[in-house]
Amino acid sequence: MAAINEVGDLTIEGEIGVLTLNSPPVNALSAPVRTAIADGIKQALDNPAVKAIVLICDGKTFIAGADITEFGKAPKGPSLFDAQAMIENASKPIVAAIHGTALGGGLEVALTCHYRVAVPSAKCGLPEVNLGLLPGAGGTQRLPRIVGPEKALDMMTSGAHVGAKACKEMGLVDELAEEGKLREGAIAFARKIVAEKRPLKKVRDLNDKVEAARGHPEIFATFRKANARKFRGFLAPEYNIQCIEAAVNLPFDEGIKVEQKLFRELVTGTQSAAQRYVFFAERQVWKLPDVPAETPTIPVNKVGVIGAGTMGGGISMNFLNAGIPVTIVETKQDALDRGIATIRKNYENTAKKGRMTQDDVEKRMSLLKGSLALEDLADSDLVIEAVFENMDIKKDVFGKLDRIVKQGAILATNTSALNIDEIATAVKRPEAVIGLHFFSPANVMKLLEVVRADKTSKPVIATSMQLAKKIGKIAALVGVCPGFVGNRILAQRQREAQKLILEGAMPWDVDRVLYDFGFPMGPFAMSDLAGLDIGWSKEKSKGETIRDQLCEMDRRGQKTGAGFYDYDENRNAKPSPVVEKIILDFAASKGVNRRAISDQEILERCLYPMVNEGAKILEEGKAQRASDIDIVWINGYGWPVYRGGPMFYGDTVGLDKVLASMTAFAAARGDDFKPSALLERLVVEGKGFREL
Ligand code: 3HC
Ligand code: NAI
Repeated sequence: MAAINEVGDLTIEGEIGVLTLNSPPVNALSAPVRTAIADGIKQALDNPAVKAIVLICDGKTFIAGADITEFGKAPKGPSLFDAQAMIENASKPIVAAIHGTALGGGLEVALTCHYRVAVPSAKCGLPEVNLGLLPGAGGTQRLPRIVGPEKALDMMTSGAHVGAKACKEMGLVDELAEEGKLREGAIAFARKIVAEKRPLKKVRDLNDKVEAARGHPEIFATFRKANARKFRGFLAPEYNIQCIEAAVNLPFDEGIKVEQKLFRELVTGTQSAAQRYVFFAERQVWKLPDVPAETPTIPVNKVGVIGAGTMGGGISMNFLNAGIPVTIVETKQDALDRGIATIRKNYENTAKKGRMTQDDVEKRMSLLKGSLALEDLADSDLVIEAVFENMDIKKDVFGKLDRIVKQGAILATNTSALNIDEIATAVKRPEAVIGLHFFSPANVMKLLEVVRADKTSKPVIATSMQLAKKIGKIAALVGVCPGFVGNRILAQRQREAQKLILEGAMPWDVDRVLYDFGFPMGPFAMSDLAGLDIGWSKEKSKGETIRDQLCEMDRRGQKTGAGFYDYDENRNAKPSPVVEKIILDFAASKGVNRRAISDQEILERCLYPMVNEGAKILEEGKAQRASDIDIVWINGYGWPVYRGGPMFYGDTVGLDKVLASMTAFAAARGDDFKPSALLERLVVEGKGFREL
């Protein structure tokens, strides 16, 4: 074996040169990897004994893409294009041997090889779109040539990782090797190529699939229309589509020019910077500086859930999906029956849509046990309480659990706002108490706030994070404070939205500005969807707020056909003249002199206090890092990922600008806008949240 450099080796096996890359963790195309490819291929080509070359990787995966950490830095070593040209123009056949994932630049390298062999468990994809990018190493021109524009559209705008068998069917992979025997399989395949004198197949020269689509612009028009909602606000999907159009309509080299131009635009833009930041933030969020990876965890094989309402049912489904048995406890038989029936109905709906078999439904339901006795939770490893949001009830439940549930178990609450330190006073083992704040619908929403109370033990935290991963959530560790991280920041936006409609805006003005910013819906449309009567009581209502007045008129949201908006039979929202009058009368009754409010003011009034609140949360140590706050808002509240979350957005706008607006708002409108000390300090130091 001859070392090419620190990450590459070339071995000669008979007439086959095997170039092995080994650059953990994912063999990303860093400068040393590109060098190893360029130099390794050259050495193999220069060696007359070598008749064909296999390009393979050690470790868990084939090349998983460009090295994202290199973006924006001065280029070093051979470019990816140089390395690819070396492969594609080689005088001897080169076979890519794929295991793990061949992604992005990795697949683009494989596409310059003359043949591709993969093990059945391997996956291929061009996930650049999820980083706000497009494949910038010829992938946009080569993929459509091999799989056709329609499949390329799907793959490149979704970033999907496609299994090796499907890749073989679409021609992306030439041969499947036996699992675990990739090296042998690829070498045997290379020998066969040599023996059969197969041609040096260059994907760039395949034209039949792109030519067949030429003169059919409807392929693209239909695709754009079908996905308009999904792509709204994002630049990258559209740019990927334009590259595939170029592949169809232009010669290869011209298409590459289009790819390069659009890639450069994306890679230097804010959206991709945000999406790359989120990629790393999603990985950082699992790292807990004071809970080391070696912290012992508690095996969780049996879960108890208390309360079979909206949250209890959804929470249970997460564990059933992961094959963990759940006992769900209610106070009354009818509530229990209703809760269990809802779980079954949800599964059956999934089965009806073909996303689960009836067998899967029964398997999950057979893991679920209903009970009216807390005693049935005695041998649970984890109990999650999801009863009414009432401190006395929760403390009563925890007091009982303390007497019933085995020592060593985790006692969790799903409270959305109550003080978990206080809940923990109800038990003699406060170290076992933690918040597991699921979001509604709990079986669907990705976010889990893991709320660490004063006395929560490290194994309880470590187990909760591990379990979150197991049930497919993205978890952020947060501290106890009113609303924790997500709802605490939300409260800022809600307060300003309410003030704005009193001062001069209409609900649909506020909603439009936030929708255009990229949220799936604005706060008033959201209230209508959730129901205006959450937390409202008919008996106590005295028309003191706009919400009270709407509820009193039975305008309680979408479910009653009217709320802040009027709804038609298809639930399409229309601005409501009734609501407009209520707001105007209400403002007049409060002596408010309404004024015209600009879209910019709406945006700043709603968003900057959120950034400021995030800074306060950091100051108080209630979140570990700014990027965790962004993860919460992207996964729990629909903050557009291409804007990176509230803290990244603050940095993008410039913290000096945020501070200047907050200071001006505070002078005119009081303490709701008081800048946090951290925001002030960062501005003085000329830093952003990213540098904390
Ligand atoms: N560049 C730099 N670092 C990368 C990386 C990349 N392309 N891909 C992964 N990493 C790092 C991660 O940050 C993580 O680092 P950490 O341990 O310090 O947190 C480590 O590698 C392991 O990653 P994961 O935790 O994600 O490991 P998994 O086994 O869960 O997943 C994976 C492996 C599926 C390969 C996943 O890491 C992944 O999806 N990576 C990104 C793939 C991608 O987007 N490729 C396209 C890049 S852009 C490109 O190629 C442009 C080109 O067209 C020019
Ligand atoms: P819900 O009213 O739908 O369900 C609560 C259930 O608990 C009811 O079925 C009730 O019969 C049962 N219950 C009450 N006391 C009980 C007891 N002592 N023993 C057993 N069961 C008991 O309420 P929901 O919405 O499910 O909320 C539950 C908890 O989750 C609350 O703390 C809430 O703040 C929190 N939460 C709610 C979210 C939501 O969007 N609904 C989101 C995140 C958290």
